Amino acid sequence: MAYFLGIDLGTSAVKCILIDEAGSVKGSASAEYPLLQPYPGWAEQRPEDWWEASAQCIQALLNKTGVKPDEVAGAGLSGQMHGSVFLDEALQVIRPALLWCDQRTEAECEWIEQQVGRERLGELTGNRALTGFTAPKAVWLRNREPEHFARVRHLLLPKDYVRLQLTGTLGMDVADASGTLLLNVAQRSWSADVCDKLGIPMEWLPPLFESRDIVGTLTAEAAAKTGLKAGTPVVAGGGDQACGAVGVGVVRSGIASVALGTSGVVFIHDDAYTADAEQRLHAFCHGVPGKWHRMGVMLSAGGAFQWWKNHFGGEEQAKAAASGRDVYELLTALAEEAPRGSEGLLFLPYLTGERTPHPDPKARGGFVGFNLRHGKAHATRAVLEGITFGLRDSLELIREAGADVSELRVNGGGARSPFWRQLMADIFGIPVVTVNSTDGPAYGAAVMAASGVTTASIPELCGQWIQEVTRTEPNPQSQSAYNEMYDIFREQYGILRSTMHKLTESAAKQQ
Ligand code: XUL
Repeated sequence: MAYFLGIDLGTSAVKCILIDEAGSVKGSASAEYPLLQPYPGWAEQRPEDWWEASAQCIQALLNKTGVKPDEVAGAGLSGQMHGSVFLDEALQVIRPALLWCDQRTEAECEWIEQQVGRERLGELTGNRALTGFTAPKAVWLRNREPEHFARVRHLLLPKDYVRLQLTGTLGMDVADASGTLLLNVAQRSWSADVCDKLGIPMEWLPPLFESRDIVGTLTAEAAAKTGLKAGTPVVAGGGDQACGAVGVGVVRSGIASVALGTSGVVFIHDDAYTADAEQRLHAFCHGVPGKWHRMGVMLSAGGAFQWWKNHFGGEEQAKAAASGRDVYELLTALAEEAPRGSEGLLFLPYLTGERTPHPDPKARGGFVGFNLRHGKAHATRAVLEGITFGLRDSLELIREAGADVSELRVNGGGARSPFWRQLMADIFGIPVVTVNSTDGPAYGAAVMAASGVTTASIPELCGQWIQEVTRTEPNPQSQSAYNEMYDIFREQYGILRSTMHKLTESAAKQQ
């Protein structure tokens, strides 16, 4: 039997899965690494930690499943996007990578938009300069750590560093490269124009590939460290969003997906490059060769629910520990006790600033509308409703751009909850579907590996392997009640923006 390995380098852990020739998951394993937050708003990780954890995770998976090294026909990588891995001439890491959720580059983003011209930047890259993206991180390095900048010879994204350790080869897929702000997304090639204007040497940038292309094969050293066989082909893979979409079969028009991880992403497949004139949505290359996608990214979706659990879910955490039940299930059950709309309580989910539809690192979260009747059940429900309203903001942008979305496939933690699925169907006003593949980006990366080492295309494999499991239709009564709440939610950011900024600036002064 041949197996395909999918490696997903997440923000808190790496997850590895093996799938067989019929697309069934043989097993999975994961290994964690620390998140470094030296200052508020900063988020970094050590690339060396990613590699150690990935190697351990692959070893553990092989041991656990009993799959033999020579049965692994190929591997693919998915990973957190946008992170900046700065390497020197000897391919050594210069400093910890700045991550997708790092917010330190606001000034650099403003400079980039002035330098290139906002409209021109949009024409070339399909995107705005956003704090999470890679190019602002390189500009920050030049401004703030010139001694490090002077040593940089290679710029990679997180998963590409792991592939470099696996294969000794430099490379990047066009899907993940789209999030650097250095790619001409329409042409699927590096933009000499943008690099030139930003003073980023093009020699730093690795060769580009489509996601199913084989970039290299496993070195003897990496084979010894991971337990895989030397010579195993490794495909380019993609950023976690493109891989996650492939993992749930979003590889043709009309279907969108919602990925509920720390961030919350609404993603739509595009057969042709379609950028929003104002770049409110990201326009990126897809992991399907020659195709594109658009997406809206909210920074704290599952992350906001996790924050609520960590700080206000002590009772549920204790109950979960005592009963062996999932703490999120207990919190969701509590949310269900409150009525639809949480009796007029709104939650604004901008806990780590926001990206879509409000590109604003200084945005802040909050509750609006408490009265004496409100308790923890209401607030918990309001958190889930607020996150879902935030996701609807991205869906509305997709709809306004004229895309016809007939079905939303959900994946990630929140997709497991029937309550949250109903909430999404009611708030989005379209059917919400779950599929049999629940391993998200890791599954997508394994599909890319399978496509790369066989003659089957990614859409063919998705068509054969991915099937609908549940379909949740909107409840018309709830839908109209939520439409009313959503209109109120939509106004809040504009009303409270200046307060949010003042609070952020005042807190920064106290530090
Ligand atoms: C996408 C994005 C996030 C990270 C999280 O643009 O920033 O989804 O990739 O892993």
